[in-house]
Amino acid sequence: MTTIYSGIAELLTFSGAVKKNGRHPTEEDLGIVHDGAFIVSTGGKIVWAGARRDARKALKSLGLRGPTREKKLNAPAVMPAFVDCHTHLVFAGDRAHEFELRNQGVTYQQIAAQGGGIRFTVKQTREATGAQLLRLAQARLSRLCAQGVATVEIKSGYGLSERHETRILEVVKKLRATTAARIVATYLGPHAIPPDESGQPQSSEKLKSDYWNEILTSTLPAIKKRRLADRVDIFVEENYFSPGEAQDYAARARALGFGITAHAEQLTRTGASRDLAKFGAQSVDHCVQITDEDIDAISKTETVCVLLPASDFYLKMKYPPARSLIQAGTRVALATDYNPGTSPTLDLSLVGVLARLEMGMSQAEVMTALTFNPASALGLTGVTGALQPGYSADFAVLADDWRRLFYEVGYHPIAATYCRGYLVKL
Ligand code: NIG
Ligand code: FE
Repeated sequence: MTTIYSGIAELLTFSGAVKKNGRHPTEEDLGIVHDGAFIVSTGGKIVWAGARRDARKALKSLGLRGPTREKKLNAPAVMPAFVDCHTHLVFAGDRAHEFELRNQGVTYQQIAAQGGGIRFTVKQTREATGAQLLRLAQARLSRLCAQGVATVEIKSGYGLSERHETRILEVVKKLRATTAARIVATYLGPHAIPPDESGQPQSSEKLKSDYWNEILTSTLPAIKKRRLADRVDIFVEENYFSPGEAQDYAARARALGFGITAHAEQLTRTGASRDLAKFGAQSVDHCVQITDEDIDAISKTETVCVLLPASDFYLKMKYPPARSLIQAGTRVALATDYNPGTSPTLDLSLVGVLARLEMGMSQAEVMTALTFNPASALGLTGVTGALQPGYSADFAVLADDWRRLFYEVGYHPIAATYCRGYLVKL
């Protein structure tokens, strides 16, 4: 049935963000319509958005047949649903003990060198059953959707072998079948060097080269064939994977038709973000150590820089140069980076508040960085992230003025989250 949604004091269409492709976002680009309405087709797509007084006329001129209903939302604002474009949602256990260690001065790299960090979570994740992993992921997803999120990217990366990585991606597939939210799956096999399971001690070079060969020759084609992931990710960092390896990986993934993203310039500068942007990556994520030359190069591409301030906060790092990126015209997104090590928080309000306070981003820049731009980072430009004709009906019904978002940490004035015209159940 065609639905007219009305009773909206302020409808944020993001029409300007669409026109400017997410670059240089201003408050005007939020495309605010007072006393707004929008029409959603049976298929869950927006066919019209504008002022309520024009809705009936629009309905006629669109020539839509069949029954129509009007739903009054009585909301202070409706906006595009949020997109969390960088999460590690499927894992077991926690790293609370490492949080305590780090807080006493031990670094993330020192913990990893002693066998902790990512590999600690790998052990716990491998030991959990698929049903346990699914239940954990469902509870986390539900907490995101309650904050107005309708699209969530989920990475594997705590399996570190073809069998275990595939198992995690199968959990993501099951999760997708149980929710109205949109799930984007990303394979992150090259997240760390796998633990030694051989019984006889092996050098880390040997462990790495065996795993690397498995990834390139076996796992990438296998997950493509089984459609277990839409895109691929790699952790480019000292003691993890090099920029050269990232290039080979990206070339192989591109040939198979995957979207490409990378964790880059988080702890040290490797230059991978610039190289991958030139190669056509959908996004480069973290970008804390990025240089002015990198920014200049990336701003000339379509690649989105995904900034993850909650992980910088937890690691007591400096924050990425959001102002320089935005001024250069780069498309900037924000995400939670939810994971048990560097970012054990699902709180979008914390991410937005950090972006405003610590990175100097404006409210309009934050709002665009959590809607239109992360959609682009996931290859979903024109699908989600704006309330314009042709877009999916993915929207958040707010219970308060949108100006109060990203102001009080922990405050989530969301009355309902919709994806493809369906209410996302929590
Ligand atoms: O995005 N840095 C690499 N990956 C994650 C951390 C994963 C972990 O520590 O478990 C990140 O920060
Ligand atoms: Fe991450």
